[in-house]
Amino acid sequence: MSKNSNILNWESYNDLSLVEKGNLISHLPHTLISQQFKRTQINELCRLASKIRFICKTKEGAYYLKSILCDKRAMLYFAQPSSRTYLSFNAACQILGLDTMDVRDSKTSSEIKGESPEDTVRTFSSYVDLIIMRHPEGGFAEKIALMLSNTNREIPVINAGSGADQHPTQALLDIYTLERSFECNKGIDNKIILFSGDLKRGRTVRSLAWLLTLYDNVKIIFSAPQELQIKSDILEMLDKAQLNYVVSENFSEHLSEVDAIYMTRLQDEWDSDNDTNEIDRKKFQIDSSHLKKMKKDAIIMHPLPRREEISTSIDNSPQAMYWRQMRNGMWIRAALILKTFDRENKIYDWEK
Ligand code: CP
Repeated sequence: MSKNSNILNWESYNDLSLVEKGNLISHLPHTLISQQFKRTQINELCRLASKIRFICKTKEGAYYLKSILCDKRAMLYFAQPSSRTYLSFNAACQILGLDTMDVRDSKTSSEIKGESPEDTVRTFSSYVDLIIMRHPEGGFAEKIALMLSNTNREIPVINAGSGADQHPTQALLDIYTLERSFECNKGIDNKIILFSGDLKRGRTVRSLAWLLTLYDNVKIIFSAPQELQIKSDILEMLDKAQLNYVVSENFSEHLSEVDAIYMTRLQDEWDSDNDTNEIDRKKFQIDSSHLKKMKKDAIIMHPLPRREEISTSIDNSPQAMYWRQMRNGMWIRAALILKTFDRENKIYDWEK
């Protein structure tokens, strides 16, 4: 874990581009936005995740893993609902022996008495060695992390989903799922990935699109109703990274060419007036009739939770990768926590 002094203040940081922010954060102990990752780091995290998964298969291995971070405590601060991210982080902590505590609703903390969110998190930092946080305000995890980096107790912050802007650890687990799925098919390079659903407000797509720019010759198809289409800031970022993409209102015409379909649900929690529920999304749903049009080894992913965009009739198809994707989250998050504390050598020690 790096120690830093004289970190930028929030206002100066906020003026930077996402790539500049990523470069700055990459020198800090935090995980905040997907732009902070390089391909070599992702490769290492994927390798570590697979090793942890393998070691955990035996009782001796599981016992060894539990000893690695038994001197650390983590705070799970989830000021927004979550099933998978919360549980997989909690499970990842348990695998590595960290004790956890949580606040899952700001109304149960002293925020209800008027304490600022900043003071609330600084309070948490007094008791733990790691804060894993989800917050409805975009950029809040970054703000908190910078604040802590400017104190004498710079503990790492992991962004477990912030506003509609970033979900970097979801992007990591998505990459791990793609890596595993294409292990025998030359990896992620040269693949075509189709994103569908609410691309405008889906933070998972925004974070994953960036990570895909780190691979060679990947093509992205953004397929959504016009009102829910990907925003120009992401397209500009992809242009700069020279990633080939298509923006389309047609879903079925692309099915035969894609290697992975990444479905997302309508993010109507961001509606001011339930206005997006009226949008016709039927042409952007997938069922067994679509599977027949896809390549045999193409996969279907979804960060979950889902609504009607994936029919339950395809849940047991070998192409339905979303259940495995969810479990992959636990392993890659364990790898990230291990790396955050610079204890990855313990995994290599086990193999000696
Ligand atoms: N994918 C995801 O973030 O799920 P949860 O909201 O259940 O954590």
